[in-house]
Amino acid sequence: MITLKEAILKLKSGNIIVIPTETVYGLASSIFNIPGIKKIFELKERPLSNPLIIHIGKINDLNKIAKNISYKAWKLAYNFFPGPLTLVLEKKNYISNLITAGSNKVAIRMPNHQLTLKLINKLGLPIVAPSANLFTYLSPTNAEHVRYSIPILSNSILDGGACNLGIESTIIEFNKNNKPILLRYGAISVENIEFILQEKLLIDNRLTKKKTLYPGMFKKHYAPKSKLIICENFHKCIKLNHKKKIGILSFNEMTKSPLIKEEILLSKSKNIKEATKNFFSSLYKLDSLNLDIILVKKFDNHGLGVSLNDRLLKASS
Ligand code: TXA
Ligand code: MG
Repeated sequence: MITLKEAILKLKSGNIIVIPTETVYGLASSIFNIPGIKKIFELKERPLSNPLIIHIGKINDLNKIAKNISYKAWKLAYNFFPGPLTLVLEKKNYISNLITAGSNKVAIRMPNHQLTLKLINKLGLPIVAPSANLFTYLSPTNAEHVRYSIPILSNSILDGGACNLGIESTIIEFNKNNKPILLRYGAISVENIEFILQEKLLIDNRLTKKKTLYPGMFKKHYAPKSKLIICENFHKCIKLNHKKKIGILSFNEMTKSPLIKEEILLSKSKNIKEATKNFFSSLYKLDSLNLDIILVKKFDNHGLGVSLNDRLLKASS
């Protein structure tokens, strides 16, 4: 664990650190620290073809990273920054291709976490930060998850408590005709963004088809070590798997079968926000029990339910 002061010193002296955000914990380096950025890819075991999100401390810093920012992009920024929205915009030339994986577009967001906003603004530089987990593993929503997933980072964590929202930011890009495209389902619902823009989002076909370009879009992602199985009926699934060590991740109802080892409820009051906040941390808990399988059910397919279903599908493939 490190203090804010130590975190700033570490970043200034070329080290990488773990930062809290409202979505998930990130593994951060200054945008100019090329060896540090390479280290991030290495530690996460993440392919260099997967670009990183730049985190800014002030809305107007969008101007420092991106160019030709459209009215619609500003409108989204003013409505959702600081918050769980990432905008993919044309990058300024000086932004390293290592960050964007060779693309001329860069992903930018302003996290809604006081400690991390202070960190970025005191450092005086934006930082890059992918989620602080191993590539394809569960995203960390507290410091403990980071220590479990990448132990070598244990002494570099700026601990800001449990993440308020619990899943990653929603990512939006604009096509040549300035139409908004959804690149990743996230903590802001599609409906919410469409309401602000007064326009339907195009859903990137990389989200629906098997062809993938970027990591959030990889088929396997967010996955626990135990096999995750999506069920329609828990009792039937339990029967089929009765010889296995079974865990259940349920929205709000206990199944109470003697054949299961552990059962976690995401929200007793069936509140989708609470369920989202508890989603990854519940999977971390279940995954630490060395279960053979974890059974889950799909959520109702609207609002945040869509974002959770997206993660369930990827974690179970
Ligand atoms: O909530 C979040 O966004 C968290 C916290 C730490 O801020 N960060 C995060 O980063 O989820 P990461 O690296 O795990 O996922 C970044 C996603 C990738 O799926 C990638 O596809 C997309 O952002 N991305 C980054 N740069 C991009 C670009 N230039 N064009 C298109 N997609 C990009
Ligand atoms: Mg990630």
